[in-house]
Amino acid sequence: MSELSNRRILLIDDMPSIHEDFRKILMPATPQSVELDEMEAALFGTQARPERPLFELDSAYGGEEGLGKLIQALQEQRPYALAFVDMRMPDGWDGAKTIEHLWQHDPQLQVVVCTAYSDYSWDELLDRLQAHDRLLILKKPFDNIEVQQMANTLLTKWQMTERASLQMHHLEHLVDQRTAQFKQASQDLQREIDERKQLEGQLVQSEKLASLGQLAAGVAHEINNPIGFISSNLGTLDGYFNQLRPLFDAYHSIGQSLGGESAARLQQQREAAELDFLLEDIPLLIRESKEGIGRVGQIVKDLKDFSRVDTQQQWQWANLQQGIESTLNIVASELKYKADLVKDYQPLPDIECLPSQINQVIMNLVVNAAQAMGPERGTITLRTGVEGDNVWIEVADTGSGIPADTLQKIFDPFFTTKPVGQGTGLGLSLSYGIVKKHGGDIQVRSELGVGTTFRVELPIRQNRLAV
Ligand SMILES: Nc1ncnc2c1ncn2[C@@H]1O[C@H](COP(=O)(O)OP(=O)(O)O)[C@@H](O)[C@H]1O
Ligand SMILES: [Mg+2]
Repeated sequence: MSELSNRRILLIDDMPSIHEDFRKILMPATPQSVELDEMEAALFGTQARPERPLFELDSAYGGEEGLGKLIQALQEQRPYALAFVDMRMPDGWDGAKTIEHLWQHDPQLQVVVCTAYSDYSWDELLDRLQAHDRLLILKKPFDNIEVQQMANTLLTKWQMTERASLQMHHLEHLVDQRTAQFKQASQDLQREIDERKQLEGQLVQSEKLASLGQLAAGVAHEINNPIGFISSNLGTLDGYFNQLRPLFDAYHSIGQSLGGESAARLQQQREAAELDFLLEDIPLLIRESKEGIGRVGQIVKDLKDFSRVDTQQQWQWANLQQGIESTLNIVASELKYKADLVKDYQPLPDIECLPSQINQVIMNLVVNAAQAMGPERGTITLRTGVEGDNVWIEVADTGSGIPADTLQKIFDPFFTTKPVGQGTGLGLSLSYGIVKKHGGDIQVRSELGVGTTFRVELPIRQNRLAV
């Protein structure tokens, strides 16, 4: 028998004789059930079971008592499948009222109304109970086989309904489960798509940097050599010229002391060659050339930093605060006429970094902030702080701000909006590379006409395998 099998029947009738009749019909003396068991054993090969009644029948002699039994059965999780209810019971609830109460507690219950006559018309009764599909009518006097077949059929119906509702629950549960899985899968997918997009963006950025880095490294390498001998030659030239100078002076004074025509001719030649001007201008030219080649050298150095070929630097634990202060000193002259400095520092722990490179980042940000100022004096605010395993530095200015369509280009190498000579467009891409090398992050917020804030986050401790 399946676990859903329910043979429990409740009979509610005020007449004890009716209970007797039902007992005889539904729970006859055993031979019948023994026969049935034997048949089942022959058909399905199961063991003949010990005798068992066809139905379990409980008796109640009034509506209230019937309801009590039904509630108790529900509490014990042994519900009735079927109730036979007498229509006319003189004391207490009549059949209709009893059935209403029974169904309030157990809507699954199949009900057979038994009656010879009723205080209602059948139409009235069906209208009142509104459950045509769970209600059968059995008119007295009834036939035994009629009762037995009703009981059999309705018990089966109860079981099928129960099974269907269980399966329905199971299906609903499965649908819920699947829906949740789909939701989860779609969320996962969305997250993956977002991550991919972000990674692609980073990849494009780092590829750009890498290819330009290689180019820059190559150029820097090629240029380094000529810069070396040009600046060394300029130094030597400067020395030679300094050696020659006293000689010219000596020639001049000896010539003048000669007097006469020789002296006049010498003076004439000297004027024709503009010797006085040359003597004055040559050292100036040498100095300018030295400065120029020094600047070229600086650009090459920037390019080398940018391409990260410079491996001289050492990772070390350093205090950023000191770095910030010394960097501010270096750029003080740039800031002096442009902006007031506001410092809003929290004490920072030492961090593991390449200090000179971090200084360079700060310098780039501060110089950019100063250069973003218009004719009016502005404010540059430096903030520092610690958050979890990171330190952060913010450089905020009240300058021009950055238009939205420019914002995504500012970290590109050689992107600049400044006139030639003022901007190389390398500052931010260099800074980006340095910050990434430290495993950190650089972000920018900007509002046109209001100002710009750059925020650099750096991990306190590096977990790199090799540098
Ligand atoms: N604080 C700032 N305010 C406004 N614009 C900025 C700021 N910082 C950077 N920019 C913009 O980003 C560009 C790139 O900056 P950067 O890489 O430092 O190169 P450069 O300063 O040589 O132009 C600048 O030309 C400028 O347009
Ligand atoms: Mg710059």
